[in-house]
Order: sequence, then C-alpha cells, then structure tokens
Amino acid sequence: MTAPSAVPAPTTSTWRLMDAPRISSLDDPEAWAYQGMAQLHAAAELADLGNADAAPTPVGIMVALNNQSYVRKLRRLAVVDAPDGPQVVGNAVLNLQVRSNPELAIGLIVVHPEHRRQGIGTALAEWLRTTARAEGRTSVLAPVDFGAEPPEGEVLTPESGNGHVSAGLPGVHLARKQGLDLQIVERRSRVDLPVAPEAVARFEAESSAAAGDAYRVHTWTAPTPEEWIEQYAALEQALADDEPRGGLDMEADVWDAERIRGEEAAIAAKGDQYVVTAAEHVATGQLVAMTMLQWNDLKPDHSDQQATVVLKAHRGHRLGMLVKAVNLREHARLRPGSRRIYTWNNEENPHMLAINVALGFVPAGGCATFQGAL
Ligand SMILES: CC(C)(COP(=O)(O)OP(=O)(O)OC[C@H]1O[C@@H](n2cnc3c(N)ncnc32)[C@H](O)[C@@H]1OP(=O)(O)O)[C@@H](O)C(=O)NCCC(=O)NCCS
Repeated sequence: MTAPSAVPAPTTSTWRLMDAPRISSLDDPEAWAYQGMAQLHAAAELADLGNADAAPTPVGIMVALNNQSYVRKLRRLAVVDAPDGPQVVGNAVLNLQVRSNPELAIGLIVVHPEHRRQGIGTALAEWLRTTARAEGRTSVLAPVDFGAEPPEGEVLTPESGNGHVSAGLPGVHLARKQGLDLQIVERRSRVDLPVAPEAVARFEAESSAAAGDAYRVHTWTAPTPEEWIEQYAALEQALADDEPRGGLDMEADVWDAERIRGEEAAIAAKGDQYVVTAAEHVATGQLVAMTMLQWNDLKPDHSDQQATVVLKAHRGHRLGMLVKAVNLREHARLRPGSRRIYTWNNEENPHMLAINVALGFVPAGGCATFQGAL
C-alpha cells in the first residue's frame, strides 16, 4: 500500500477507515501511519489524562504490532487526507490472546480530541465487533483510562464496590452504548522523584530485617540471567494467576521462558531499558518475589512500574517492600534524571496499594474496564 494522495482540506466528512499498514522499519514509506498513531495517542492523552507520559512511541507501536506470538493484534485507522498528507485521527486495536481466553476480544479505541463526536468512535467500535465475531470471539473487554480529577456527576462503581469512574466520560458513554458493563477499576499512582534516599534506605533496612537471612536479593538489567529465566517466568505466571480480576470473565494468560525472551527482544527493539530486583529463598534456591521498573530514553521524564509479585507461600515477610525499595535505589542510580514513576494497582489489592502509599505514591487517575457479550 502507498500513502494516500493529498485531497482537499479536511472537513468533518472526509475521514475514512483503513487497516494499519504493516512495516518493519520507520524508514518505510508507510511509516507516516506510525508517526500518526503516536501523535494521536499523545494528543488524546494530553486532553484526557493531563499529560502524554504514557503515550507510545512510533517504534513502540511498530514493535508491539510485529510481536504477535502470544497476543494477535489487529489495528484499524481513521484517516483524514489533509493537504500535507494523511492524518491519523482515530484508531482501534483488537487484541486476541493466542494461548488463553479463546472467547475474548480486547478492544481499545482512541479518537483525536479535535475529531470527536462525528461518529468515528462508533465506526471503529463496529469494526471491532464485526472483526472479533469473525474471529469467533463472543465477549469483548474495553479499558477506559481516566485522569486524576475527582469524578463528577453520575459515578459508576463495580459490583465489588472498589473504585469508581465518572459516567460522563466519553469512553464510558461509548462502552455503555456498546452494551458493556463496568467490571473493575484500577488505580494509577505517581511518585515524584527523587524519593528521599534516606527514606528508601530506611524501608530497605526495615524490610530486610523483617525478611531475615532466609532470603537473598538479586538485581539485574537486561537480559534476564539464564539461571533465573524459568523462575522469573513462573513469577510472571503467578502474578497473572493471582491478580484480582473483579467481575471480569477471563482467565490468566500463559507466561513461560520463551515469552519472557520474546518480551525482552521487544523491549530492546523499542529502546526500552529496565531494572529487576528479585528475592531468592536461600534454603530452596527458588525465586519467590520480584519487581521491575522500565523506561525509555525517548521519554526521559518518567519510568513505569511493571510487575511486582510475592509468591503466596512467602507473603508476610515484607518481601514486597524489600524488592521495591532495593529496585528504587538502583533505579535512582541508573536513571538519576527521571522525574516520576507511575504504577498501576487494582483497587482490590490493598497490600500492594499500602506499599505504594508508604513509598509516597499518590493517586493519578486510573482505568475502568468494561466487558459484555458480543
Ligand atoms: C470514546 C471516544 C473513542 C469516542 O469517539 P467519538 O469519535 O467521539 O465517538 P462517536 O462520535 O462515535 O460517539 C460515540 C457515542 O458516544 C457519545 N459521546 C461521545 N462523547 C461524549 C461526551 N463527551 N458526552 C456525551 N456523550 C458522548 C456520542 O454521543 C455517541 O453516542 P450517540 O451515537 O448516541 O450520540 C473518544 O471520546 C476517545 O477517544 N476517548 C478517549 C479514549 C477512550 O476513552 N477510549 C475508550 C473507548 S471504549
């Protein structure tokens, strides 16, 4: 496919839908679509969340779309043909897990703030439904991100009673119009850096004293040491198995060493870097806890907390705080210029939330996930 030729200035009626072109380099003539998707996400996040920290980079979108082994991804674009070339004004992503949840479609729709209320979101939702049905999926799940402002007007709460979201958000409107119901709310939290080194040292000392000699801490950057790869994958699997899912009707996805190596290749291709701290149970040589912080030099101001998990049999020894405090210390050393860290927690996960609050994380919006039959 070649880039569409320029046509008269955009009006509200000129958008059209097309499949995202598949490319393997940003030098490809079709790379305009990837620059466009990244700009679209940045504009939408700035408008909806107050900043564009979480917006993907063009290379990040390309690598994710080319990494299809565990999650198949289809992407549809809404495009306006402007005089200076095609502009991506909306996109829908359909994720289909390959090794789990054969009934489930995961859909995400984003429309540029200046192009909303013209039916683009509805058209992309229709494509998602039709495509998911053709793929044999019978249930759809849709996450709606929201910013830090307190909810206004009508407020929706999932059946568990944990967390809430404004009914007036456009994403909530669209999800409910598609017949989906709110199932779970996750909290996004932010800590401004630096966290006082003496506070981190105190958390480390206290949790290390509580854990005692039974555990030994290991910290690494990419790649995961070969000796830990299987156990590291087992920790990811334990997290997926145990994660609170509220009212969501879905099973845990599959995590194995091959997937970890695939994710590592994707992380490297995106230009991401990370630091992991894990705790080994000395008597058995088993890894029983881990936490990961990830960042990208193209977005120098922030880092993202990824998985944190402590195996059930080893909870209650302050290992969650221990690995987090050590990893924060290492992150400060590796990434001194970073200004904030974001993390995500289910509102139904009080222990993890308590650790983050103690470390200074404050609420910074969240994600409401809806689900319903197709
Ligand atoms: C949600 C979103 C995709 C809608 O895109 P859009 O192109 O404006 O969608 P449409 O024009 O097709 O409108 C969809 C429906 O939502 C309603 N809607 C959209 N924004 C609304 C708002 N601010 N207030 C009230 N209703 C709204 C529309 O009225 C329409 O319903 P209708 O057909 O009964 O009128 C867009 O606002 C967006 O990108 N939001 C941020 C990302 C997000 O939340 N995505 C999750 C979607 S599940």
